[in-house]
Amino acid sequence: MSSEEVLWVEKYRPSRIDDIIDQDHVKARVKGGMLVSGNIPHLLFFGPPGTGKTTMALAIARELYGDAWRENTLELNASDERGGIAMIREKVKEFAKTMPTVKAPFRLIILDEADNMTPDAQQALRRIMEMYTASVRFILLANYPSGIIEPIQSRCSLFRFSPPLPKDAVLGRLREIASREGVKVTDEALEAIWDISQGDMRKAINTLQAAASFGGVVDEEVVYRALGKVSPTRVRAIITEAVIGDFSKAVKEVASLIRNEGADPLDIIKIIHREVVSATSQLKVPDELKPKAVYIVSEHHYRLLRGSSGELQVYGLLARIRKLLHEGYK
Ligand SMILES: Nc1ncnc2c1ncn2[C@@H]1O[C@H](COP(=O)(O)OP(=O)(O)O)[C@@H](O)[C@H]1O
Ligand SMILES: [Mg+2]
Repeated sequence: MSSEEVLWVEKYRPSRIDDIIDQDHVKARVKGGMLVSGNIPHLLFFGPPGTGKTTMALAIARELYGDAWRENTLELNASDERGGIAMIREKVKEFAKTMPTVKAPFRLIILDEADNMTPDAQQALRRIMEMYTASVRFILLANYPSGIIEPIQSRCSLFRFSPPLPKDAVLGRLREIASREGVKVTDEALEAIWDISQGDMRKAINTLQAAASFGGVVDEEVVYRALGKVSPTRVRAIITEAVIGDFSKAVKEVASLIRNEGADPLDIIKIIHREVVSATSQLKVPDELKPKAVYIVSEHHYRLLRGSSGELQVYGLLARIRKLLHEGYK
């Protein structure tokens, strides 16, 4: 990646608490309580990836220390610290020696992926937190609170970052980023990014950037291509062709999807399953034929998992669904 190709997740990480999307209960507690008093307890932020935990921790650092936030904040990742808890202890000790360069009574340590630490390491962490509590505050980040031992939980204020971020908010943010980057994005592409990211803003922004790197308009197909996948809309069209249109033409397209575009036969079978049961699908499988159709899908799914050629299983499956729809119950 060249130097001007900065990661959009970093470039568009909100720096102020107010600019963080959603998470209103967290924002209100942070701004109302501790930032007014200037004194904060240890904090535990938990919630799924890409919902703003690190962003909030960094925004608090800025709020506390202004321009001097970097030298007063130590960022550690529990999974990256090769030396484990001993290394973390050394770093904390070193960092806690120096008092803050600005008015605040303590310095800040942000410890990411704290729930990846073993219970023993967490016990040691708890002692470290206590030992240095006069000069440092911890913000622990985790996916699940259950991954953090009770004695640490009870020493922290807990903040839940709720999943998923609302769809409107995520798509609004993506539109804003696209317009600031001068990238054109279709509504279908935004829907596809939402399907893929499901409220994980990091994944959403990374997908948008990867798709935009192709250089043209970002449409649904480009989004899936950026992820090395084939667009479900295209797969659906080919399935429809195979079942109610020109079978041999459709088979050629399936072959090309699998051989040239890296489509996974298992993904195709899953899409066929969805098409067979869906009420809105173009296949319009009558309700009374659905059980039989699903049974057929499951047979081919099973054979594929048992090691049979995926490509042949897809053809066989399409042929049988076609036959079922043409002959009904026979
Ligand atoms: N609530 C949010 N509001 C605005 N942007 C967000 C939000 N959550 C995540 N992001 C975006 O996603 C990226 C990753 O967010 P981050 O705070 O690191 O997530 P995590 O919860 O995994 O720590 C950020 O750089 C930012 O661009
Ligand atoms: Mg994070």
